[in-house]
Amino acid sequence: MGTYEDVFRASTEDPESFWLKAAQSIDWEVAPERALDSSGAPFHRWFPDGRLNVCFNAVDRHVEAGRGEQPALIYDSPVTGTRRAYTYAQLRNEVAAFAGALTQLGVGHGDRVVIYMPMIPEAAIAMLACARIGAVHSVVFGGFASYELAVRIDDAAPKVIVSASCGIEGKRVIAYKPLLDRAIELAEHRPHTCVILQRPETQAELGPDDLDWADLIATAPPADCVPVPANDPLYILYTSGTTGKPKGVVRDCGGYAVALHWSMGAVYDVGPGETMFTGSDVGWVVGHSYIVYGPLLVGATTVLYEGKPVGTPDAGQFWRVAAEHQVKTIFTAPTAFRAIRKEDPKGELAGEYDLSGLRYLFLAGERLDPETYQWASDLLDIPVIDHWWQTETGWPIVANPVGIKAAPVKPGSPTLPLPGWDVRVLDASGEPVPAGVDGAIVVKLPLPPGALPTLWNDDERFVASYLSAFDGYYLTGDGGHIDEDGYVFVMGRTDDVINVAGHRLSTGSMEEALASHPDVAECAVIGVADTLKGQVPRGFVVLKAGTGREPSEVEAELVQLVRERIGAVASLKDVAVVAALPKTRSGKILRKTMRGIADGIDEPIPSTIDDPGVIDTLRPVLRRTGHTP
Ligand code: COA
Ligand code: AMP
Repeated sequence: MGTYEDVFRASTEDPESFWLKAAQSIDWEVAPERALDSSGAPFHRWFPDGRLNVCFNAVDRHVEAGRGEQPALIYDSPVTGTRRAYTYAQLRNEVAAFAGALTQLGVGHGDRVVIYMPMIPEAAIAMLACARIGAVHSVVFGGFASYELAVRIDDAAPKVIVSASCGIEGKRVIAYKPLLDRAIELAEHRPHTCVILQRPETQAELGPDDLDWADLIATAPPADCVPVPANDPLYILYTSGTTGKPKGVVRDCGGYAVALHWSMGAVYDVGPGETMFTGSDVGWVVGHSYIVYGPLLVGATTVLYEGKPVGTPDAGQFWRVAAEHQVKTIFTAPTAFRAIRKEDPKGELAGEYDLSGLRYLFLAGERLDPETYQWASDLLDIPVIDHWWQTETGWPIVANPVGIKAAPVKPGSPTLPLPGWDVRVLDASGEPVPAGVDGAIVVKLPLPPGALPTLWNDDERFVASYLSAFDGYYLTGDGGHIDEDGYVFVMGRTDDVINVAGHRLSTGSMEEALASHPDVAECAVIGVADTLKGQVPRGFVVLKAGTGREPSEVEAELVQLVRERIGAVASLKDVAVVAALPKTRSGKILRKTMRGIADGIDEPIPSTIDDPGVIDTLRPVLRRTGHTP
């Protein structure tokens, strides 16, 4: 591939040739002759004249190329005691059968299918089946509660919803069907049908509009791959924005397939016949890109793991999976390693497994703290690669591209911008800042293939959220700096998005939930540092005058309210009733100041504060800890 410098230069000097060359790794029904269409700028489209089918590229073509007997997907589920491998040929048959079932249900090109499933192979099969027939999937993370699911159902307006009877969270069996039924009740949009996969742990009661997955595929004729225009949406993935309404990130077919394929070799160094284990969930972008599509596009084997890094049953499971399935590359969030380290500080369980095949550990989703980096490096004695990206970008922006050549690591930095990403740091007035100075991290347009072309049904919000702050640049929402050697340092979000155990959540949506309580006059939710989860939310509420309620009672109700409305994954366990919230004279709540005090940072009090006394009263409450599990 050449050196990093050569490859990066090629991608900036002539991006069109660079990406057209990368596009040759994909099988097209009509190969693109043009790389980029910028005629609709600021909207850019990659491979506008190409036609392809992503499922064909991820599955069928490997069977045709003689990989039919190679494992494509290994389902490893310590919570059910199951290990099952699907060869590429078996995966093709399963996907074709479910695609046939969807077709029989009237799902066709461009129709949406919401997938609300736990970490079982059928989740990936349903995704690929949609891709096979040109339908658009929208996977909703199983940890979201009914209200969040309903919001996504209304936005995506699916013809069919695919779900399962239950998920398994550690030792708990969580029935999904009641959550789904409640979501459909809450939503205005009505799907035609729900397809339910019955799991042995719990049988769901099926209603008149529900169909059993097993019955359906038993009779459906298999469906073939339908080639679609490269710019057609492959999926919508909702992610937290600054408000309660999630953003429907759209992913196209052609650009995504090309970028993911390129990243598998250049970034992750995983190729045909090798095994990647991504410890995440298909409900997140990491799961879409590196549990499902990325490894399969290159003909590798992917491990779909249903369990936790700890407690299912122990902190040695990642090592067991790596050893048992000859994993070359593990990818997970730093929080998983913090959890393992907490349970097994000396990493003794790793010694019980043969990890000689493990070559790399990739971490992303939140800042990699130096202690975790050091611990993992010392324990595994392999490169530990921090890399930075987002749901919106679909694949890494900044990484150490070990498939090209690993660069020296600077702890605290995810290393260098990848080819295709022209990363800059700007000050508030849009001027570039000198090396080493913090500012807003932005990417010069056009974004490379694979990044979001827009938001679902909302071009306006796409422009307002990402393109309007600095003309000609995509606003990442992260702040940080680039040093004199070009290393990028990501210091954290500059908006109301927080990262809890690698899960991206909106404090705005938690505030909306708190504000819906009849006794709450006003509220603020902030993300505070947490040794295990990176960040956890804390809520502060002022009660309406004269409610006469016991604060502790309301606090408990509010914790429960957020759990019911957003889901347990929100991890809001600490809500405090306070007398007042600190505000500027214009009425803006000083969340940054509150966060600083809670994190023990000597946060300066802004001169615009309305009543400094409020901060003094709040300080002991903010400094209170003890909510950490
Ligand atoms: N369905 C239902 N509930 C879910 C869920 C799902 N898919 N995922 C999480 N939850 C629940 C958990 O059971 C927990 O419930 P509780 O409050 O009753 O205990 C709550 O949501 C919070 O979950 P989480 O923040 O994941 O905490 P945890 O203590 O269960 O696990 C880690 C902590 C670090 C082990 C776990 O978050 C982890 O493995 N994270 C790293 C990998 C990852 O998924 N990263 C995401 C993107 S890369
Ligand atoms: P998500 O869209 O869920 O992937 O979350 C994206 C956000 O997670 C980014 O905007 C960052 O705030 C954070 N993030 C992801 N990877 C890293 C990383 N390597 N270092 C620091 N923050 C990260």
